[in-house]
Amino acid sequence: MEYLQAEATRQPRLVCAQGHSFDAARQGYFNLLVGKGTPFEPDSAAMVASRFTFLGNGHYRPLSQALAAVVVPHLREEGAAVLDSGTGTGHYLREILDAASAGGRKASAIGLDISKFALRRAARLNPEAVNLVWDIWQPLPVADTSVDAVTVIFAPRNPAEFARVLRPGGVLAVVTPRPGHLADIAAVTGMLGIEEGKDERLAAAMAQHFEAEDTVDVDIPLELSRAAAADLAYMGPAGHHLDRNQIAVRLADSPEPVNADAKFRLSVFRPRTDGAP
Ligand SMILES: C[S@@+](CC[C@H](N)C(=O)[O-])C[C@H]1O[C@@H](n2cnc3c(N)ncnc32)[C@H](O)[C@@H]1O
Repeated sequence: MEYLQAEATRQPRLVCAQGHSFDAARQGYFNLLVGKGTPFEPDSAAMVASRFTFLGNGHYRPLSQALAAVVVPHLREEGAAVLDSGTGTGHYLREILDAASAGGRKASAIGLDISKFALRRAARLNPEAVNLVWDIWQPLPVADTSVDAVTVIFAPRNPAEFARVLRPGGVLAVVTPRPGHLADIAAVTGMLGIEEGKDERLAAAMAQHFEAEDTVDVDIPLELSRAAAADLAYMGPAGHHLDRNQIAVRLADSPEPVNADAKFRLSVFRPRTDGAP
């Protein structure tokens, strides 16, 4: 798909080079998957609500600050653009845009996700971004070498497409969980554990298109109410196979505060310039 241009009409609309046009949904996002759809199961409205509440209460603030600190220096002062792939509720993109503007940089932004429920939230939180319902495994509706930074926080990765849309000298920031991430809550709630060897797999998947530049580990000791712990468990992949009530029941005997350690790795990549791993 060709790059989409925003038309300055009263109702926000995107138009592609072939003349297809997409009106914004009432809630402000654009659904580009109309018709074809996707084989993937999007996050439900209830999972998204849990994520919005949990993140909005600031529990992961040290992570969003660390991410913004990595990304913002790569944004040009004028005309910079960020793509947040798998943006969810747009929480981390908000932190980046705020940090950019506090640093005198005005960045435009694209938030992309397969869940329209997530993008309803994202469009409210980040009204200045273009929020697109799209499947990351399909060619991205973003022009070649048009963005300064791609961010991927706990979401799938399409390295070839990220490399295509990044400008030379741009940056890709990927957040993944480290072994032991939320282990205490996982043991009680039935959340999926973190597989060993994730870092090696990430590096191998990226190697054809990117060079690893840096890693930053962010550890956050959490002290949560049972309700917040239930939101945390439910907002991730566990939400696809457990309902929130089941999780709350499993946590019912846990003493408050519920203690857990969030263990993140922020991996920073730069597009290869030599064309070969
Ligand atoms: C664990 S959530 C993380 C959301 C957000 N980055 C955050 O950290 O709050 C993973 C996100 O990836 C999205 N996602 C999953 N598969 C996708 C796909 N094939 N294309 C686009 N987004 C996808 C989900 O809908 C979900 O919002």
